[in-house]
Amino acid sequence: MITTNIDQAIDALINGEVIAIPTETVYGLAGNAFDEAAIKKIFTLKKRPFYNPLIVHIKSADYLHTIADDIPEIAFEMAKYFWPGPLTLILKKQKFISDFITAGKDTVAIRVPNHPVALELLKKLEFPLAAPSANPFGSISPTSANHVFNYFKNELKVVLDGGVCEKGVESTIVGFKGNQLILYRHGSASIEAIEAKFGKVILATSNDKTPTAPGMLSRHYAPSTDTYLTDNVIELLKNFEGKKIGLLLFNKAMNAANVIVQEVLSENSDLNEAAKGLYAALHRLDNSNVDIIIAERFPDKGLGKTINDRLERAIKK
Ligand code: TXA
Ligand code: MG
Repeated sequence: MITTNIDQAIDALINGEVIAIPTETVYGLAGNAFDEAAIKKIFTLKKRPFYNPLIVHIKSADYLHTIADDIPEIAFEMAKYFWPGPLTLILKKQKFISDFITAGKDTVAIRVPNHPVALELLKKLEFPLAAPSANPFGSISPTSANHVFNYFKNELKVVLDGGVCEKGVESTIVGFKGNQLILYRHGSASIEAIEAKFGKVILATSNDKTPTAPGMLSRHYAPSTDTYLTDNVIELLKNFEGKKIGLLLFNKAMNAANVIVQEVLSENSDLNEAAKGLYAALHRLDNSNVDIIIAERFPDKGLGKTINDRLERAIKK
């Protein structure tokens, strides 16, 4: 059931249940990170394979050492700069952190979400929350309580409603090799913002990513409608005469035959605004009666990189 009653959420979590919570990025499917039974429930509900590790959400950077060990100085500095906010840090785990959370790795993903409801919840709880995005494995992430409800219906006793997510795409995930920053997932903290303050970020190699990170899977964040990504929408449309088409566009609607729905993400060409509306637009397109979705490629800078990354994984392979 969708509710704004935070006490109900607290009761459920203390009782070992899994609930949906709002964050500034996307909604999460949250459970007590110190309760292995609750963690297993998250995987079952999400139909997520156990090789995909979860993010631990803590109330402030002061609690980092309760989850992570051997924390490099630069990680503290990044936490101080970005938290609460959409940056997840990959750090060496404390021994007692469950292998279910980390998928057996010796590292753990941690962040402090920047959402008043999530923060209030975390502050009232005596344990951190393990939470993946609140969507069935592989599908489009939810950015509203309704998106979550449509996926899980009454399987979730509590969907805590915190409104529409302000950022709209998941957190950026960064790990460390000494002082070198390693990017595990593009997200709503832009690479430019990280590099301006903390120096060059390099892409994780496939070695760093074992076991496979789900955010890195080639098909993920995917609508059930066949989806294409292109630099030239008009050209691609020629291949689909007679089909009902939905378009996902950056800043301008188009005049074209067979197009029955168009989603324009930012008339002002604002990539942050586009990111905020991305998943909701994909949900609407997927629920409209179109045969295919065509998305145009976004500018390769700032959150445009993150949008392109998600669209690459949403497309028909
Ligand atoms: O914005 C977000 O990060 C949202 C909200 C709810 O906080 N959460 C989210 O969780 O996107 P999820 O489970 O959908 O994605 C978590 C990502 C996965 O790609 C996973 O592989 C990666 O974090 N991850 C977790 N632990 C890791 C680790 N030890 N090393 C590398 N990647 C890790
Ligand atoms: Mg996810």
